[in-house]
Amino acid sequence: MSPEIVYELVRRIERKDLSTAAHTWRVVLYTRALLEHFGITNDELRIATHAAALHDVGKLDIPDRILQKPGSLTDEEFEIIKLHTVSGYARMIHMDVSEEPILDLIRYHHERWDGKGYPYGISGDSIPIAPRMFAVIDSFDAMTSVRPYRSELGERAADNALVEIQSGSGTRYWPQAVDAFADLYRTGSLDFILHYFNDEVHVPEFQIARDEEFEHIRKDFGDRSVSSFPS
Ligand SMILES: [Fe+2]
Repeated sequence: MSPEIVYELVRRIERKDLSTAAHTWRVVLYTRALLEHFGITNDELRIATHAAALHDVGKLDIPDRILQKPGSLTDEEFEIIKLHTVSGYARMIHMDVSEEPILDLIRYHHERWDGKGYPYGISGDSIPIAPRMFAVIDSFDAMTSVRPYRSELGERAADNALVEIQSGSGTRYWPQAVDAFADLYRTGSLDFILHYFNDEVHVPEFQIARDEEFEHIRKDFGDRSVSSFPS
């Protein structure tokens, strides 16, 4: 999948979902950090960052009146939102996307380790590794990003989010992903992502395939980030 198509889709998702570029950057950076922790580099890492950026591409198929609805959703509306997993997958197949981590992440990123997720309710090892790891990242980011309805910010929010993630280890989340994420958090390897990015911070235009962008960001924040980004 070409980077240009990924960028274009990401921009469309952000416009449609009213999500921010900062959210996309963060989940991509967490994904890079976690995969590097597992020793994954180069092409596999690049594809995984594309996958992370595109995880909610299926939201392009959800009506605005539901996706952008302020306040809580009805049961019926939530059932429609859940379809963004399978519609995103169908969209990628239609575009002849063949990279498995991208297809897997889009289709399965709301599955849970204990089988209580959606859309299929599969569990454990039946869930491919990419979405198993991403579930931790997506939840952590949702709990730590700056939103108007949540006043608790900063370090305490992140500490609390980690506790919450750890309490879901073995039920909601794959234990190995939780342990790896907790390790990265404890050693400060995620600080540059947490401290720099929040939904009110301007971030550069999304250019996920350009490693020099990541390198620049990492250096900007005092080399407190993941050990190395591949060039
Ligand atoms: Fe999603």
